[in-house]
Amino acid sequence: MCGIVGYIGPRQATPFLIEGLKRLEYRGYDSAGIAVYDGESIETRRAAGKIAKLEGTLSADPVTGKVGIAHTRWATHGPPTERNAHPHLSTDNTVAVVHNGIIENANVLRKQLTELGHTFRSDTDTETIAHLVQELWEGSLEEAVIGALRKVEGTFGIAVVSSKDPSKIVAARKGSPLLIGVGDGEYFLASDASAILAHTRQVVYLNDGDLAVLTPDGYKVMDINNVPLRRSVERIEWDLAAIERGGYDHFMLKEIFEQPTTVENTMRGRLILEDGTSKLGGLNMSHEQLMAVDNIVITACGTSWHSALIGEMMIEDLCRIPVEVEYASEFRYRNPIITPSTLCIVISQSGETADTLAAMREAKRRGAQTLGLVNVVGSTIAREDDGGIYLHAGPEIGVASTKAFTSQVIALALFALKMARKRTLSVMRGRELAQAMHDLPKQIQSILDRAAEMEKIADEYKDAHNFLYLGRGFNFPAALEGALKLKEISYIHAEGYPAAEMKHGPIALIDEKMPVVFIAPHDGVFDKIVSNIQEVKARGGKTIIITSRDEPALAGLVDHEFRIPETVDMLTPILASVPLQLLAYYIAVKRGANVDQPRNLAKSVTVE
Ligand code: AGP
Repeated sequence: MCGIVGYIGPRQATPFLIEGLKRLEYRGYDSAGIAVYDGESIETRRAAGKIAKLEGTLSADPVTGKVGIAHTRWATHGPPTERNAHPHLSTDNTVAVVHNGIIENANVLRKQLTELGHTFRSDTDTETIAHLVQELWEGSLEEAVIGALRKVEGTFGIAVVSSKDPSKIVAARKGSPLLIGVGDGEYFLASDASAILAHTRQVVYLNDGDLAVLTPDGYKVMDINNVPLRRSVERIEWDLAAIERGGYDHFMLKEIFEQPTTVENTMRGRLILEDGTSKLGGLNMSHEQLMAVDNIVITACGTSWHSALIGEMMIEDLCRIPVEVEYASEFRYRNPIITPSTLCIVISQSGETADTLAAMREAKRRGAQTLGLVNVVGSTIAREDDGGIYLHAGPEIGVASTKAFTSQVIALALFALKMARKRTLSVMRGRELAQAMHDLPKQIQSILDRAAEMEKIADEYKDAHNFLYLGRGFNFPAALEGALKLKEISYIHAEGYPAAEMKHGPIALIDEKMPVVFIAPHDGVFDKIVSNIQEVKARGGKTIIITSRDEPALAGLVDHEFRIPETVDMLTPILASVPLQLLAYYIAVKRGANVDQPRNLAKSVTVE
């Protein structure tokens, strides 16, 4: 989604704003702009395309001033042009606004404001806020912003500056993340901490309904009725290196290669090998509450939904508790069955995905206990859930999720192990599973050490137009995830399917031009997937097979093979996903795609 940055203090604002935008570019990258008060008026500079374009505009026509706001956009209303780039100005150019979210009654407001003589210069919903602030001006910026926000419907994270009340930034949030960075005599505003980490680790997270006024002397937080609110200052633990590429060509490749460490970090201090169980300090549920859980709903979007499918099988297999997996965007609007003994597990890397947040709030409203599996510390889902499991995978900058996925699956395995050992799982079986989890980091490293093998396979298929990914059992979701990775970054059409389902339709797609990826470790359903591979070969399909041992049964059926180490069935998706991430990555690079910022995508989808 869009990224917002703000600066107020003794130094020039522009350098901070541009640096901050670059750090937030993964959130949205189709156009950008800044607005700075130069002592007389609000000066804006905008450009379609990447931040580099805006930098070009600024070097040709710089702006100076110590108060400013900036924005990088992921278009919702109006095409990604300079005209629709933020900031947007009021008719009299005295008010500038940047916005992340959707104003649902923008058309009504636009009509009313036009009738009042305001001139609209963009197609955006956001511009209505600038005109409203001018229209409702009575003397102070915060009062005018409060007046404007009382009229808008929808979601927003906004920052506003005005030449009529110049030494302040007014910010507000409802649905889109915003935080204040507390510096040494200077103050920052940002959609997430990565934009300001180079200057401060002290942040104040704004909650939905909060407004903030930042001045050179400090900041205050209040509600929409101008009633002061207390918000604590929190410390960001991860460092700048975590958000640098560290010598890798792309953040995605760096994050793929971080997985031995990130999977270990997710298990650190939680896996108890001796007892064959896990310790999860953040669940915030007593033994009685955990034992009272008799049905589980897991809700999420995208890649997180794929890990939910694996979690479903793990929990049902080990704990014998029925699990429903729900697309968050569907769950929030249908009439789900939630009972007082329902546990709702919410999975989100960013912790800000609008549909997932709303689904959690819906489950909570109906009395479910909510558990957040989240990577971003301090994110909205993490602050609103009843308990949680932080992934500790570190910042994930690449839009295509990789390390968060494998950490989500291992976090679900830790949860399933704990719940199962409280029920019917023996210590011996528990130890076996715990040991297998403990061995994963080394096993993942052994896969990464052979990344070049995947690059060679990618070279063979970089010009393909379609791909099919097939798996069974725990690896059906891994097939979905493999297909999603390829789609997201290479723009090749790809589908994931349960291997046996292929006979019921997709097999019609098979010919010598269709590469088919099979995830076929030697697990409990290996014999079954062999026949599916034969069906593809019989129709001339090209097979790329992920195996875990020499398989005589596959003789003559393999065009390309990649070997992964063996582990217990429920953990094979973690090992199988790493080579599929590499396949997608190398194919995308060979096609010249922008791997870290694929077209049309954004890292966290904060609008529905
Ligand atoms: C995955 O590569 C995508 N970036 C996307 O599908 C993502 O998983 C989805 O938007 C959910 O994001 P979240 O985990 O931050 O909620």
